[in-house]
Amino acid sequence: MGGRWKRIQKKHRPKVSRYYSRPLSPDDPDRSVNGFRFVEADHDNLARLKASFPKELSDRKRDILAQRIQDPSEDAWMILDEGDRLCGFACLAWDDHEVKLMQHTIRVRPHQALFMDDYVFKKHRRRGAQSAAVELRVGLAAAHGRTEGLVLVSTTNLGSISSYRKAGFQTCGRLIHFPTSKRTLEFWIPRPLRHG
Ligand SMILES: CC(C)(COP(=O)(O)OP(=O)(O)OC[C@H]1O[C@@H](n2cnc3c(N)ncnc32)[C@H](O)[C@@H]1OP(=O)(O)O)[C@@H](O)C(=O)NCCC(=O)NCCS
Repeated sequence: MGGRWKRIQKKHRPKVSRYYSRPLSPDDPDRSVNGFRFVEADHDNLARLKASFPKELSDRKRDILAQRIQDPSEDAWMILDEGDRLCGFACLAWDDHEVKLMQHTIRVRPHQALFMDDYVFKKHRRRGAQSAAVELRVGLAAAHGRTEGLVLVSTTNLGSISSYRKAGFQTCGRLIHFPTSKRTLEFWIPRPLRHG
């Protein structure tokens, strides 16, 4: 009974996430970072990724990545290490982005790039792959003419929060999702107060 009650509570509890952002400067380099580099995701390397991590890369996530490859308003990359091993993936959205799980569309303004779908496979974690994937996207987004990076992270995801904070991202807003009513509330820190 206790376990069931806890599951019901968890299902209906509002989910809180925070937005973080950082300015992107045009001279941010697009290169290999700490031995990690990006290759653009395509259907071949996605099939290779699924074959390498059949359980960890769920069919749902594989389908989402396939969709990112097709969609011109989104880009997806595989993260490779110095031994050319596939370590994870990372994406950017260049336009408004729908988060299906929350039935919410994140507004991505023309000067922004939305960092999303960060994933490093378990056996490659804590080697700096995520730090590199953030830096590489900073360079790519700046090269694309974007001047602000934006990311939405659940307040429970301490690893991800820490990796973005280390890369210079600061809190700029909050999103609360109410699963029962399927509604979301957003709060933004006024623009002049952001980034100190
Ligand atoms: C979060 C995630 C992407 C981090 O990947 P990673 O390659 O292991 O991260 P890095 O090695 O580059 O670590 C960068 C920094 O992030 C922080 N960090 C990463 N994992 C952490 C963890 N489990 N706990 C606390 N801090 C963590 C640390 O500050 C770390 O720097 P340090 O190693 O110098 O202390 C990875 O754990 C993951 O894929 N998790 C599941 C998917 C996910 O949560 N994605 C993010 C959605 S927004």
